[in-house]
Amino acid sequence: MKNKPRILVTSALPYANGPIHLGHLAGAYLPADIFVRYHRLKGSDVIYICGSDEHGVPIMLRARSEGVSPQEIVDHYHELNKKSFADFGMSFDYYGRTSALIHHQTSQDFFRILDKKGVFVLKSESQLFDPEANIFLADRFVRGECPSCHYLDAYGDQCEKCGASLNPRELINPRSAITDAKPVLKKTAHWYLPLADWQSRLEQWIGSHSDWKPNVLAQIKSWFSDGLKDRAVTRDLPWGVTIPEDVAKAHQINAAGKVLYVWFDAPIGYISATKEWAIAKDDPELWKKYWQDESNRLIHFIGKDNIVFHCLIFPVMLMAHGDYVLPENVPANEFLNLEGNKLSTSRNYAVWLDDYLKKFEADSLRYVLAGNLPETRDADFSWRDFQARHNNELADILGNFINRTLTFAHKYFSGKVPSMAVPDDLDRELIRQIETAPLRLGELIEHYQFKQYVREFMDLARFANKYFNDQQPWKTRDTDPEKCATTIHLCLQTVYTLSVAAEPALPFTARRIWKILNMTDNPLWENAGRLMLEAGQLINEPEILFDKIEDADIEPEIQRLKAAAVPSTEKSTTSETKEIAMDRISFETFQQIELRVATVLEAERVEKADKLLKLQIDLGFEKRQIVAGIAKAYQPEQLIGAKVVVVANLEPTKIRGVESNGMLLAAGDENGNLALLTTDKEIADGSKIS
Ligand code: 2FM
Ligand code: ZN
Repeated sequence: MKNKPRILVTSALPYANGPIHLGHLAGAYLPADIFVRYHRLKGSDVIYICGSDEHGVPIMLRARSEGVSPQEIVDHYHELNKKSFADFGMSFDYYGRTSALIHHQTSQDFFRILDKKGVFVLKSESQLFDPEANIFLADRFVRGECPSCHYLDAYGDQCEKCGASLNPRELINPRSAITDAKPVLKKTAHWYLPLADWQSRLEQWIGSHSDWKPNVLAQIKSWFSDGLKDRAVTRDLPWGVTIPEDVAKAHQINAAGKVLYVWFDAPIGYISATKEWAIAKDDPELWKKYWQDESNRLIHFIGKDNIVFHCLIFPVMLMAHGDYVLPENVPANEFLNLEGNKLSTSRNYAVWLDDYLKKFEADSLRYVLAGNLPETRDADFSWRDFQARHNNELADILGNFINRTLTFAHKYFSGKVPSMAVPDDLDRELIRQIETAPLRLGELIEHYQFKQYVREFMDLARFANKYFNDQQPWKTRDTDPEKCATTIHLCLQTVYTLSVAAEPALPFTARRIWKILNMTDNPLWENAGRLMLEAGQLINEPEILFDKIEDADIEPEIQRLKAAAVPSTEKSTTSETKEIAMDRISFETFQQIELRVATVLEAERVEKADKLLKLQIDLGFEKRQIVAGIAKAYQPEQLIGAKVVVVANLEPTKIRGVESNGMLLAAGDENGNLALLTTDKEIADGSKIS
């Protein structure tokens, strides 16, 4: 298997509806980049494909909430993510996007072929429909109560709280995520992939891959034991790859408004991006060598939430099509937590890559993440650990060894590599470590043990530092100049070994070292194990490779995360007492908010918005209308005459088309309970609260 001549590596196409964060990097990107960079140094014929996943309901929801088109959203995030990946040193050979014409055509052709082969089952059934927005409510367009854990805000395709995979019709009290309207049932036809028919073939195929990571196999086995179910591969949505008209017509179905399910077209994005890569190389058929030739290794790097799609659904699509190779491995990673809490993009509880890169070096993060990847279980990133590993390992071990070696060579050997005399035992031990490093570290990378690769790499630097200390060149310079020259010769050779061995994880640092050593920036992995520097070779002035990271550099990052911390009930570590972190505001800022007492004069429901009430209130000095989201907790009639507290100087706005001039204050807990704020004795309307 490992002797096959070509390797195609993919990383999950990230949705183009938000920036890249550390969870992404630790899951599907950094490990793949290390793997690919290693193979390039080995001289393998490897290509690395990724790109933006630009379809799906979350993108549409984001576009709606920002009042822009989905295209504007994906254009923005495609460029942003492409750039931050590049600045992080991700070495994709091609970074495509699924809104590209070639992708739409490739996906439609794939669908057409599967349809012609009779792979799909067509089903006509009733689905939830928003009568106000005039749209079927697929996946995340519908929210409601989870039938398993009764969380009130579950999505139509999944409950975020308990992780249950859902069908929109299973939700209790469903409501449209667009208009809040109560959905009605409406008939529609869709294409399904009958996965149950493929289960035994899948089981056989997975059975031949017992070397896959245990966390991946465990998840696949649990899908098998539940029994695979039919999966709809089309949706009624206005955004996505449209169903080919000829295919729909052949089944007497109206194609209008129907698109491929995002998880049908996204993995085909790997193929279409490879096609674009081949076109850019002026060899349009070249992509086939990587997709349709049995002598190719296909490896998908993903996060654990994508396992079912890459290990079951996409392989079925590939098997059913017939022309494609199946993945050799899908080394999925688990999740990365942050400072002991689950990462949450909606709460901004994340470390965003573009933000990180404004303050710190890419290689520091690459190193710290690579040494702490969630390879078989969830891992945790903390800023203190980041600082410690950067300072204690990159700066104090690797950086220090390189710096002291180069400085010594400049000071006492005129910036030239000294000659080696007869090596002693310790010298021979260092030579042995140099010689065995490429094979040892390479094996770890080849087996997806990136954490161990980084650790053993740093062990080599640690050993080299100790070697420098034990050989005491600052003493032998006077007592035994030949020994001193040998020590510095071997230390310089080790600097080169370390630079090549580091490249997959620390590509920027490696290039800086090659420049200092006057070595090519296109080395071979095997050469890391050879004494490549010639005696007499000139080396450039050393430079500090890693500046220390101070407390003051990371403190704002820690504070920002504390402020955004998720409620303790959702913490991944349990704690008895609840810690609530918050950003403080000044008294002056508080004074800008005008809180006043008012009396509710009238209250009524807002049509087609089951959460909202429209209130007429008396503020003493004027009467106003405000809209409040309290209809689930209060009947309109309960409120007449109630004393309430309002933010009086808020700019007027429209909520669901209804004018709201101020904001009613209410307390809300994590279970959705609401209580209005009021006064504990009679006081005049308009009284200020301070
Ligand atoms: O989970 C995600 O972010 C998806 N956009 C991954 C897609 S992977 C592939 F199939 F394209
Ligand atoms: Zn649930």
